[in-house]
Amino acid sequence: MGKGALALLVHGGGTENWSPERWKARFDVVCPDRRVWQLPLANFDPAEVHYAAVWKPVPGELAGFLNLRVIFNLGAGVDALMADASLPNVPLVRVAVADLTDRMTEYVVLHVLMYHRQERYLRDSQREKRWAPKFQWPASAVSVGIMGLGRLGANAADVLKRIGFRVAGWSRSRKQIDGIECFHGKPQLEPFLHRTDIVVCLLPLTPDTRGILNRDLFARLNRDGPIGAPVLINAGRGGLQNEEDIIACLDDGTLGAASLDVFTEEPLPADSPFWTHPKVVLTPHNAADTDPDEISKYVARQIERFEAGGALENVVDPARGY
Ligand code: NDP
Ligand code: OXD
Repeated sequence: MGKGALALLVHGGGTENWSPERWKARFDVVCPDRRVWQLPLANFDPAEVHYAAVWKPVPGELAGFLNLRVIFNLGAGVDALMADASLPNVPLVRVAVADLTDRMTEYVVLHVLMYHRQERYLRDSQREKRWAPKFQWPASAVSVGIMGLGRLGANAADVLKRIGFRVAGWSRSRKQIDGIECFHGKPQLEPFLHRTDIVVCLLPLTPDTRGILNRDLFARLNRDGPIGAPVLINAGRGGLQNEEDIIACLDDGTLGAASLDVFTEEPLPADSPFWTHPKVVLTPHNAADTDPDEISKYVARQIERFEAGGALENVVDPARGY
């Protein structure tokens, strides 16, 4: 029968990187001696499937693979899979690779610098032909707080620290990272928020974190920093944010601005107020695009190691939900 087959189920990615055909072509290259089945497919035997590589599979779609050994999520966030009550009880591996991490750090640094260097004011000045520079404070005057100090958050924190920002992070478990003020757990959320001018959210979406970005949290952010009203940057998941609260807090000045890459409904509906809100900088869930070349190699390496008796890496803990 040869090696167990790999079933590829890719649904609903936004960019062209998520084309199922592109993933199929990549997996054919990196798994040359394995059958790669791009589903849906008319003729295949589910019993021969040992591995599934997936993005947003429909709940129940994986339940019929009775000989499944590992599920590989083709992105970092596994919230779509955690919502599937019939998910087979096999290890679920998520993406944690330098390529994705570096892309997210680019996004975070871009947006933090945009607020720190008063880019919106300067672009308005240019449009209005106004030569009116304002005082520019140093990076060391700005406190950035990163919610989620995992693969993505820790790297962004490190790069921001090297630029000169005062950086803190908040995680579930205690951390010690050189030059980063580390907070953890619910009791330390308050002091973390209190010292933060720009809050960057890189949390996973779990039952504990759903809706955490709400008015109550925004009201606790620092208002005395050089940028004035605090700024929200969310590139985690849309389900982390209360969208009505964000709009209301932007309108009443609780928040000064928001950079949003993720939304509760994606693609963002045409009538969403976020499209046109003057204080919102919006991107279409491409803060860190997933590169099929890098990720297919990562999956192929893990399968090889697993079949040689080695341990899988970046296995999700279903009890924590990430
Ligand atoms: P990790 O699992 O490596 O890190 C998650 C971090 O969140 C950890 O530090 C974890 O704490 C912390 N955390 C989780 N739950 C809580 C909680 N209840 N309270 C406090 N802290 C908590 O994930 P990644 O860094 O790889 O990715 C983070 C998220 O980014 C993904 O889940 C995904 O949703 C999103 N993402 C978005 C992309 C985009 O393009 N917009 C692209 C890629 C990912 P601890 O360290 O203690 O476990
Ligand atoms: C991911 C994403 O989770 O692209 O990797 O959102």
